[in-house]
Amino acid sequence: MTSDIRPKPGIMDIALYQGGAATVAGKTNTIKLSSNENPFGPSDKAKEAFARSVHQLHRYPSTDHAALRAAIAEVQHLDADRVICGVGSDEIIHFLCQAYAGAGDEVVFTEHGFLMYRISATAAGATPVEVAERDRTTDIGNLLAACNERTKLVFIANPNNPTGTMISAAEVAQLADGLPPQAILVLDGAYAEYVDGYDGGLALIESRENVVMTRTFSKIYGLGGLRIGWGYGPAAIIDVLNRIRGPFNLSNTQLEAAEAAMRDQDYVARCRSDNARMRIWLAEALAELGVPSDTSLANFVLARFADAAEAEACDVYLRDQGLIVRRVAGYKLPHCLRITIGDESACRRVAHAVAQFKGKR
Ligand SMILES: Cc1ncc(COP(=O)(O)O)c(C=O)c1O
Repeated sequence: MTSDIRPKPGIMDIALYQGGAATVAGKTNTIKLSSNENPFGPSDKAKEAFARSVHQLHRYPSTDHAALRAAIAEVQHLDADRVICGVGSDEIIHFLCQAYAGAGDEVVFTEHGFLMYRISATAAGATPVEVAERDRTTDIGNLLAACNERTKLVFIANPNNPTGTMISAAEVAQLADGLPPQAILVLDGAYAEYVDGYDGGLALIESRENVVMTRTFSKIYGLGGLRIGWGYGPAAIIDVLNRIRGPFNLSNTQLEAAEAAMRDQDYVARCRSDNARMRIWLAEALAELGVPSDTSLANFVLARFADAAEAEACDVYLRDQGLIVRRVAGYKLPHCLRITIGDESACRRVAHAVAQFKGKR
């Protein structure tokens, strides 16, 4: 019997997202440096809140996330009414595409941009539009040139994943000001906390009607396994997103752990400075071995090899040593490996293994 059951047009064009590998067959004692996770995990206060939440398992969570939004607003100096919380920042990206882009609309993002922009745009029925970067850096001129009357959303991650590069506040303002009137600029700040003194573009959001920011608890807050993110923007846009948000999209456990994590900014500051120290160390160690990288402002470096074959061979060698990094051919960077900044011993193991790999060639 043949079936007439078909998904909406475009759905079968979506390539399944591949998460960072977590294991190597036949190896124990591996180190996972493939998903930009915090090597130290979450703050103890978040873990304690997680444990306490076991007493609430039979209760439905709040639908309005008031306590978590209040904590975010207090710590980040925002208006709590304009914060929205989701299942990772992925869900906020998804809400934006579902609410603002459909058939005939275009969603613009950069050449090496985060893969979920394309997936969410396609799932919404919109047309993804990929724009060239300049030396692995977001190019405002190219983005503006790609916009037209069909453009509904423009996504940039700042710092970007997997390049680690960042553009200035002045450039972001120029982009926001140059967009067509029906388009929203989405500033993806998944790695914003790694940049000393950077607020994710808050001033721009407060002074414009067309800018939204997405943030996550998955990176510096060390809660990737729990899936919590948030967004901030003009009241009218947040109201729209809340209309398509599931009322119970976050559990009590997610809400309470995230609130405790947000309130422990001393922990965030320690993670930021440790990451910066080891990122500089690793980038220099790799450069001395003939493996350059652009200046990264995030919790990873994008190591560049002579060509795709060398990157692949190094990846195989690192895996053999129990070190799991990320191939980024899917991000149009086949000659690169993205290496998450681990703790000091992990960084030293990576540098040592790359030195051995280079020495064997
Ligand atoms: C640029 C960027 N945006 C968003 C995300 C999504 O993070 P999450 O859904 O865990 O908040 C990631 C995760 O890797 C990312 O790199």
